Amino acid sequence: MDKIEYRVLGDSGINVTAMGIGTQAWGKESFGYGSRYTEKDVFEAFQASLDAGVNFFDTSDSYAKGESERLLGKFFKNDGRPVVIASKFTKSKWYDPGNYKSPKDVLPAIDNSLNNLGLKQLDLYQMHYPESQSKINGYLDALAETVKSGKAKSIGLCNFSADRLRYAYEYLDKKGVTIASNQIGYNLLFRHPETNGLLKTCDELNVAPIAILPLAEGILTGKYRVGGLDYPKNVKSIMKVTQLDIFGTGHPTFWFKSLFKKPYELEREKLEPLFELMENIASSHQATIVQVALNWLLNSHPKMIYIPGAKNLKQVSDNLSSLKWKLTSDEFQKISKLERELWNNYK
Ligand SMILES: NC(=O)c1ccc[n+]([C@@H]2O[C@H](COP(=O)([O-])OP(=O)(O)OC[C@H]3O[C@@H](n4cnc5c(N)ncnc54)[C@H](OP(=O)(O)O)[C@@H]3O)[C@@H](O)[C@H]2O)c1
Repeated sequence: MDKIEYRVLGDSGINVTAMGIGTQAWGKESFGYGSRYTEKDVFEAFQASLDAGVNFFDTSDSYAKGESERLLGKFFKNDGRPVVIASKFTKSKWYDPGNYKSPKDVLPAIDNSLNNLGLKQLDLYQMHYPESQSKINGYLDALAETVKSGKAKSIGLCNFSADRLRYAYEYLDKKGVTIASNQIGYNLLFRHPETNGLLKTCDELNVAPIAILPLAEGILTGKYRVGGLDYPKNVKSIMKVTQLDIFGTGHPTFWFKSLFKKPYELEREKLEPLFELMENIASSHQATIVQVALNWLLNSHPKMIYIPGAKNLKQVSDNLSSLKWKLTSDEFQKISKLERELWNNYK
């Protein structure tokens, strides 16, 4: 395997592997946990990741009501190898993890996450969703308090648009606390951060962009392409919600049209030329389509960190194999160009 690539979480000095592991599906019955995959499967995925040198794991208090944190905590305690752990504060209206309703709930929430994980300090503590302008300062102050109290080494945001990110960054910067990262939807089929100012703002502020849904919830594996599986219900609804762009992190003017339009990611016939190209490139590297999609992300931006979710050893091994080879710049350009043509024809 080539030397694994590390990237820094903003100005925090914390080094993480460019590819981390997302654990949203760990413990979550609605994603098939307990029926399609089990604790043994996710434990094997965890171990294989560490074996390959991956050190970064992303979880949240809201994933399976804390079960993702508990599983992760149990795994790294049993394993003993060093890991970098990111978790999140989720206000209760989203998933009701702990009835968290106001900034004063942030410190109890991080205590709960630390307890679930069996840790004294989190490497990265993130605000899961943005807040309205009238309430945001209180949450940012509370987030800063997690660093000042030593409960978190660094703090990050999720789903903050370019304007919201800049506001939050400057507000905390004046108080001597630096935002390290922002989780944003970004993958080969969702490239709006390239044009909506998000990546530019991350660069200007030195905030690490962390790509969520890097495989478009499995669509970028090619398994739902023409002739493949039907899109599962959860995949369809996640794509619809993403398209609605509730937080303004997507296409700046597309949301109204999107109320009535099938999401781009679900247009399998229109996307087939891209999957054909990815398949051809994959076969010339003895690789798979999913590896091409992850390799594209690695090359997409020099500071991009991406955290594909995996439910078992087979998936994680396939994803980890993307670290063994690199797309040529010609291959990268061809894929990028074709995808833009398909998007422009669709929108
Ligand atoms: N901050 C936020 O608001 C936010 C939101 C969403 C996600 N996230 C983070 O981002 C991470 C990644 O997102 P995600 O896990 O939802 O989506 P994803 O990484 O785009 O897709 C993961 C899913 O794709 C399928 N898959 C993965 N590797 C595969 C392979 N090699 N072959 C076939 N199928 C494969 C699996 O589902 P199936 O087996 O069911 O196909 C897996 O659960 C999350 O785990 C979470 O940590 C954060």
